[in-house]
Amino acid sequence: MALSRTSLPLPLLRRGKVRDVYEVDDASVLLVATDRVSAFDVVMAEPVPHKGTVLTQLTRWWLEQLPPDINHHLITADADEIVAAVPSVRDCAGEIAGRSMLCRRADVFPVECVIRGYISGSAWREYSEIGTLAGEPLPSGLRESERLAAPLFSPATKAEQGHDENITIAAMREAVGPDAADELERLTRAIYEHGASIATSRGIIVADTKLEFGYLPEKPAERMERTNSDGDSRPSRATGFDPSRVILVDEVLTPDSSRFWPADRFEPGGAQPSFDKQPLRDYLLSERQLGRWNGEHPAPPLPDGVIEAMSQRYLEIYRLLTLSPLDMGYAN
Ligand SMILES: Nc1ncnc2c1ncn2[C@@H]1O[C@H](COP(=O)(O)OP(=O)(O)O)[C@@H](O)[C@H]1O
Ligand SMILES: [Mg+2]
Repeated sequence: MALSRTSLPLPLLRRGKVRDVYEVDDASVLLVATDRVSAFDVVMAEPVPHKGTVLTQLTRWWLEQLPPDINHHLITADADEIVAAVPSVRDCAGEIAGRSMLCRRADVFPVECVIRGYISGSAWREYSEIGTLAGEPLPSGLRESERLAAPLFSPATKAEQGHDENITIAAMREAVGPDAADELERLTRAIYEHGASIATSRGIIVADTKLEFGYLPEKPAERMERTNSDGDSRPSRATGFDPSRVILVDEVLTPDSSRFWPADRFEPGGAQPSFDKQPLRDYLLSERQLGRWNGEHPAPPLPDGVIEAMSQRYLEIYRLLTLSPLDMGYAN
């Protein structure tokens, strides 16, 4: 059974395009990946079977592959451990098993940390029109989808609605502070390089990916200590930026946050087929051409074949990367 939305007996903090985020307590959240799918910034009415489970299990798998010095938010993705920690969800197995992550709660930095090994998507659009990316020049003569000489860190704003907008590094430093900006770039590069090299060994190019980071709130004990020493309990700039409180949050190197291309069909000089959502994109584009869809919410109803093709592709990318099939015991 595919799942479009959840309703757990916990305070709902946010319904994102894909995840429902619940508050567990001051220090933790429960992230539930539904089977919702979006394309061209519109969420489809129909869920895609197994999609949420693939996103969650792939994120969990990547977090296990990352170097141990990369701190992240995952406490557990094990359903029994989640229920043990959050007893009120004990009767919600269908909404938990396989698709949920109990996570440390962080203040999410208001930037998408995008890194590009290849030039595609919004970066290609801007470059092909005016030769820049977020206003900064790139070498001339690049072709669409071409590999860049070195991975390019290209942050973006988090738009509540519609497209994220690429911003300069200077704008990012302004938004989060220079020390945090440097640390987020360093982590983004380390994670991309590590992940892309694993993916390459499986025949998959990670053309680009988007990461999110959060800042762990001060523990009450730490705040108390500071209150005693300086008589002021407000979090202040004076406490300074502490890199050990930065953690990787949200999803990691999934088909929703990354462009995965099959290496054996890679051909620079044009757009590459997307591993996962291509059947959906093709269908929606043809509905637009036929004048049956205006590109806005609501999307046209999806044929079963399109949903099934996407579901198979999500399962396939999981299998290709992790070298084992998705555990269907989860896939309620
Ligand atoms: N550890 C965390 N603490 C707090 N918020 C988080 C954490 N991990 C992820 N989030 C937030 O949860 C939401 C996940 O929902 P998602 O469907 O991915 O949203 P979006 O539509 O913004 O992509 C995002 O807003 C993300 O910033
Ligand atoms: Mg997201």
